[in-house]
This record gives sequence, C-alpha cells and structure tokens, in this order.
Amino acid sequence: MKSLKLAMRPAFFQMWRSQTVQLAKYGLFASIAAFLATAALAPLGSALIQDWSRRDVELRSTLVFNAVGMHLTGLLAANQRVQIDQLFERVASDARVVGVALCRGDGLPEYASKLMPSTLTCKGIARSEAESFSTLTVAGRRMLVGAFPISAREIAAHFIILHDLSYAEARGTEIRNYASALLVGIMFLSASLAVGLASYLARQWLKSFRAAVANAADTSIMATPGQIPGPFDSEIRKLLKKLDVSRNATDGEHVQWSKQALRNILNTDLPGVDVLVVANREPYIHNNGPSGIELQIPASGLVSALEPVMRACGGTWIAHGSGSADRQTVDANDRIDVPPVNPEYVLRRLWISEDEQDGYYYGLANEGLWPLCHIAFTRPIFREADWQTYKQVNERFADAVLDEAKSPSPIVLIQDYHFALLPQMIRARLPEATIITFWHIPWPNAETFGIFPWKEEVIQGLLGSSILGFHTQFHCNNFIESVDRFVESRIDREHATVCHRGNETSVRPYPISIEWPPEALASQDSVAACRKQVRNRLAVSDDTKLIVGIERFDYTKGVLDRMRAVDQLLIAHPEWKGRFVLLQAAAPSRSKLPAYSGLQEEAIRLADEINARYSDCGTAPIKLVIRHHEPAEVFELFRAADACVVSSLHDGMNLVAKEFVAARDDERGVLLLSSFAGASRELSEAIIINPYDAFAMGEALHQALTMPAPEQRERMRLMRARVSSRNVYRWAGQMLLDAARLRQKHRILRMASEPSQ
Ligand code: F6P
Repeated sequence: MKSLKLAMRPAFFQMWRSQTVQLAKYGLFASIAAFLATAALAPLGSALIQDWSRRDVELRSTLVFNAVGMHLTGLLAANQRVQIDQLFERVASDARVVGVALCRGDGLPEYASKLMPSTLTCKGIARSEAESFSTLTVAGRRMLVGAFPISAREIAAHFIILHDLSYAEARGTEIRNYASALLVGIMFLSASLAVGLASYLARQWLKSFRAAVANAADTSIMATPGQIPGPFDSEIRKLLKKLDVSRNATDGEHVQWSKQALRNILNTDLPGVDVLVVANREPYIHNNGPSGIELQIPASGLVSALEPVMRACGGTWIAHGSGSADRQTVDANDRIDVPPVNPEYVLRRLWISEDEQDGYYYGLANEGLWPLCHIAFTRPIFREADWQTYKQVNERFADAVLDEAKSPSPIVLIQDYHFALLPQMIRARLPEATIITFWHIPWPNAETFGIFPWKEEVIQGLLGSSILGFHTQFHCNNFIESVDRFVESRIDREHATVCHRGNETSVRPYPISIEWPPEALASQDSVAACRKQVRNRLAVSDDTKLIVGIERFDYTKGVLDRMRAVDQLLIAHPEWKGRFVLLQAAAPSRSKLPAYSGLQEEAIRLADEINARYSDCGTAPIKLVIRHHEPAEVFELFRAADACVVSSLHDGMNLVAKEFVAARDDERGVLLLSSFAGASRELSEAIIINPYDAFAMGEALHQALTMPAPEQRERMRLMRARVSSRNVYRWAGQMLLDAARLRQKHRILRMASEPSQ
C-alpha cells in the first residue's frame, strides 16, 4: 500500500506554495518593470522640462525686447546714455535676467547692466540679422543669450539679454526627483498589492482547505449534496478517498494476510512507530517446577491471537508477571526478550501484589465485569474496594506505558476488560498517542450495562481510545447505545464515532482470529497417526467416535450443557453407547473464585453421574481432563477428533472453533458451534447449536457423528478458506491501517489548524 504520508502532505502544500510563489513572482516582476520604467523615463522627462523651460525663457527675452526695443532705439538715436543705463538696470532687475547689454562691433558691450558678467565680449555672442538664441556657460552657470538686432535711424547694434538657465535645470532635477519618487511609490504600491493579494488568496485557500478537511473528515470523504466546493475540496476528497481505497484494497479477501503483510504495513504506513501492547495476561510465564524453571504458554485466546502479531511487529508487551519464577528471569528493568528462542519483542513485567490481584483481577474484572458482559446468568458482584483497586492498578499500568514509550506518539494496543480506565489515563499522559483498545468479551445491551455502579467512569475511560474494537457489529451497537444512555457525548452513527470531551473514538468491529497456518500445526503428525495415538491414550478402540471440547474451565463455555447434550444423545440414539467419547479438556482458570471452583466441582459430579448411567457400555461417554494443555497437545486432539464442540453460553469470538478448523488440513471433522459465540457469524458452515436446548444439541451431536465425508469436506473447505483469509494478521492489520489513517487525518487537521505564516 502506498504510504499515506507521501500521498497527502505534498499535494496540499505544493498547491498552496506554488500559488503563493506565483503571485510573489508577479509582484517582483511588476516592481522590476516599474523600476526600469523609472530609470528610462526620468532623463527623458528631465530633457523635456529643460527644453520647455528654455523656450519659455526665449519667449520672455522676445517679450522684453518687444517692450523696450522702440524706446531704446529712440534713446540711442538721441544718445541719451544716462536713460539707456537706467533702462538697462530696470530690465535687469527681473530676478531671472542676469543682465542686458548693447553690442556694436566685437569688443566689450557699449552698454551693460551692472551685473552683466565682465568677461563677456560681443565677439563671444552669436548674432545675426534676425533674433537668435544661444547658450553660454559663464562662471559655471548656464545662460541663455538672446541677441536682437536694432537697425533703424542708421543705428546697427544688437540688444543682448542674458537669462540664467540654472533654474530650468533645477526645475528639471526637481521634476525628475518627483517623478522618481512617484514611480518608486507606484512600484512599492504594486508590490504591496501583489503580496497582499497573494496572502489574501493564500488565506482564502487555507480557509477553504480547513473547511474542506473538516468537511471531508466529517462526511467521511463524500461530498455534502449542494455544497459549493472550495478550491481544495475535491483535492482533499480525492486524497482522503485514496486512503479509503487503500483500506478497501487491503481489506479485500484477495489480500493474503501474513506476518510479512503486517510487517509491510508497519514499514510503509507506520514507519518507525513505537508499538506497545498492554494485556493483563503475559504470553510467556516462568514457573518454578520440580526440574527447575519451566516455561508455560497460557490458555488464552488473547495470547494466541496477539503473540504472533507481536512477533511480526516487535515492540513491547506490558503484562502482569504472574509466574512464580517470573522475577528470576527478568533484567534490572523487569524486561525479558521473548520468545525465549529467537526473541522478536520485549515482555515488560509488572508486579501486582496479592491484594491488588484480588481487587483488580479477581474482584472487579472477573466477578464484576466478566459476568456483567456475558449473558450466562451468573450474578455479577460489585465491591467498592475492588473498584478502587482496579483504578489504582490501571494507573500503575498507565505509568508503565509512559516508562516504556520511546516517543510521544506511540501506538498503544490495550487489551480487554481489565483496562477499561487505561485509555483515558494514557490519553492524559501521552495526548499524541494512538490508543487502540480491544474489548475481547461481549458488550451487553444498555439496560444490562446500566446495573454497573461505575458505568459512566468505565465508558469515559474507554472513550480515551482513538479506536475501540469489538468482535462484532452487534457489540459495537450495544456500546454506542450505552454511551448514548449514560454519557454526554456526540455520536455519529453513520461513521460509528463518539466525540467526548474533545476526543473522537471510532467504534469498529474487528473479528479476532488465529495465526495462519498455526505454529503448533508444523510439528503435528498425520491425522491418522494422531487418531491412533489419542485413542490409544484413552484406551478406546480405533473406531470409537471422538468429540472434543477444549477450553478454560469457565461457566460461560457451556461445559455442563455439553455433558447434558451427550446424555440426550445417548437417550435418543442408544446405538452410540460404547462407541462414542466426549473428551473434555479443561484448563483450570480463576479457581480462586467460587463461581469457578463451584463449576469445576459440578462438572466432575455431572460427568461421573452420566458416566455411571452408561457404565455397562464398556466405554464411559465423558472423559474429563482438568489440566492445562500446551498448544501441540491441543492440535493433536483436534486432528484426532471426529468433531469439536463449542457450546459457549456467550462468547466474544471463541478461537477454539477457528483452531479446530485450522488443524484439519485433511478437510475432515465437524464443528458444532454455539450461535452465541461471535465465531458463528463467520463460520456459518458449522452445525450451529443452542447450548440451552439439550435435546437439540444431542441431535446435533448425532448429525455430526453421522455426517458423510463429502459434506464434511465441503463445509470444512469453506470454513478453512474463511479462517485462512481472515486470520489474526488481518485483525491486527486492519486496526493498524485504521490507526495509520487516523494519524494521517490528525496530521492534516493539525497542519490546517497551524497559524498561516
Ligand atoms: O475472553 C477474554 C479473555 O481475555 C480471553 O481472551 C482469554 O482467553 C481469557 O479471557 C483469559 O482469561 P485469563 O487471562 O483471566 O486467564
């Protein structure tokens, strides 16, 4: 799958950046053009001004001559020198006139006003028979010299008038400066306008980008009808849609989910991510045995599902160290690399005192929440002291998560009903963490859940999760109903999200499964060999039909009901007497609790009672084996059996059913499966039973024992295909893909809410 990171980030921001850069370029271009225009036009403007000023001065010179010419001619004719001097001084008194003179011949002027430059000779002044103008530089100043001929009454002379041109130059410079300042102003204004426009557009885009993200996030990628799309909307939708397309691609049945596929997801979609698992039960228990430290793999669906996932992902599994030799096998930080042979991840053990164990595990979790969530008609017990201990232990695990986290945003996979408060506690410590909580047991309807005294706290605790998973859609619906009834929040039923105190939780079904192919299968003998070995051990004939039931000794598993069904079978079909055995393997579990020890006693009593009833048949119909069975033994029993019975009164999923299917690579064997186990949603080719109906279950046992081989093959083939494709790597992979998408979505929302620069 293509990396989401690669898909999203560049597209939005390249777009924004390229538009801004484009506008900035326009601004720069306009500024340079304005500058060049200023540089080019300023000298031209100055020349025009000077030319215009000179013509103005020429006109003034002509006007002066026209005004005084006649009078001067008269004075010259009368040789009135004093009046001529006075006239010249009067004319020269004009501010712009430097001086006036009269030239006859080439020597010094005959008359000259006082300020007429003394160096000026008539020879140096261009004269002609018509008025003429020339320029001269006198004492560093530019002068316009006007020469007007006087030729009347035998007088031949030129009236000379000098104007200072420096004022025109000053005017030109002044105008050039004004023009430059004006152009610089225009340049500045146009650049500011361009930048302003660019930032306005950028802000508009950003605004529409945010709206589009919010809209896309809210509408789960689909456009709201009638909505006018912003410039980013379609782009964002396309990209977010890509995320969904990639989900569909990886969700599809055609994807072969494997350890490697899971690793690929981590590498491409969550590169370098820190994975932490929190589960009460540890995957490897070290106990002191008669021959030293012994390793035990617990009988736990949770462990058999999660352990292969951890082997694929690496990371740290934080669990209660419950083995008698657990402390001896950890390092100074309470860590141990596991599996013991070829370690692939770290197990961090947390020590819980006996009192804590009584309150948190036995009390609140297993006498309170367990019977509350399973409809098995065992009354839950709620004690305030247990609740307080449960809270304290959850806090301790939250601290351990903080200890083990290598980054502020790890992916934390919280397992089960032992940690209902932990999601919120981790959210408070690591707000950036992606918290995936998986509830391995059913979630009851809101009415049933309503009897739990701390219902609000538990719901709020769980709503600290980013993703909350259940096995089935039915349990998701029950949870959402409970939220609706007991907690103030915003529920989006279409997208199955709950928003509570600013945190959004996706509530999704992730049907748990098993490793495919299971590791325990690798070391198995042929089915024929297994059949023989097991029958030899049981001391029954080779043709004795064998039905197995394997689980923890738990009142939810319907062990007693299964025994009653055997009784019914033998009543209704006596031909099976002496030819059939139910091998019930039951691992002692939570035996400290009266409900469990009582069940064990009751099971022994009932098995004895039924066996006694058929004692004359040679083979006792029920063989009850109360001990822990290692996975290899379990798989041998599965392969040896003609049928496997899973008669849970209520079960989140039940992995025994899936393991039985996985063990039967010979495509034989019949599965009897309770309709109250989550697995019945997926394994519909099993014989579906109602454990409360002993008679019907007896008939189902008969059907299993008499099912023709082709029908067994047909059913088993379909179930194997389903379990192989919907294996535990898919379970984990879908959660991790959803986590990757969430992290991506949060990154986008964070980027959109960051202040624009
Ligand atoms: O069904 C819930 C569950 O956690 C299972 O996954 C597992 O098989 C069982 O309970 C284990 O119980 P415990 O850890 O108490 O032995």
